[in-house]
Amino acid sequence: MPSQPIKIAPSILSADFAQMGNEIRAIDAAGADYIHIDVMDGHFVPNLTFGPPVIKALRPHTTKPFDVHLMIDSPERSLEAYAEAGADILTVHVEACRHLDRTLQAIRDLGCRAGVSMNPATPPDSLAYVLDRLDVILVMSVNPGFGGQAFLDGQLAKLRRIASLIDDRPIQLEVDGGITPETAGRVATAGASVLVAGNAIFRSGDYADAIARLRTAADSAS
Ligand code: DX5
Ligand code: ZN
Repeated sequence: MPSQPIKIAPSILSADFAQMGNEIRAIDAAGADYIHIDVMDGHFVPNLTFGPPVIKALRPHTTKPFDVHLMIDSPERSLEAYAEAGADILTVHVEACRHLDRTLQAIRDLGCRAGVSMNPATPPDSLAYVLDRLDVILVMSVNPGFGGQAFLDGQLAKLRRIASLIDDRPIQLEVDGGITPETAGRVATAGASVLVAGNAIFRSGDYADAIARLRTAADSAS
């Protein structure tokens, strides 16, 4: 696969929830490529965050793409609401979809880019027959549910396997969880081109510097 420019997607799960509009504008100004929005339902993952009304309220604060990561059961029931709220990329979990092929078609029919994510234990070949319906593959490098967890080294082999499955298709390979300047280089070498980072950006004192450090580490390794 030809190497793609690295994109950095700050995860607002680690932002100050009482200042969300300001936080979105700050990461936009600091150089974020995408805004990564973690939707959790308290069932698929043991945590609960926000849904379409909050995403809609955030939409006027930036023109950067909203990368909406749905960690929810049966996401096909609410795709339309997320698209209307302003999602650009809608990513569902393969473990949460009974009819993944149909769900991916529905996402594109709504005018969004279609993404699929996988938990750490899920084998990459589960995507082999839906590749032509995909714009983004999101590899979880922690168990989903919380920010600030340690990167799972075993996911590097999965990234390499998926990069080879993608071959020359125009699919972005994204990685989410435990991304720091140190792990950024390793995931970029393994084939990731979109890096999600929560704590590494929002717990830093300087968002622009944190984004630049991740980008430099990934660019110099890829
Ligand atoms: C975890 C979320 C991640 C999380 C990443 O379920 O999908 O996006 O916010 O946070 P860090 O970068 O702190 O591991
Ligand atoms: Zn996420």
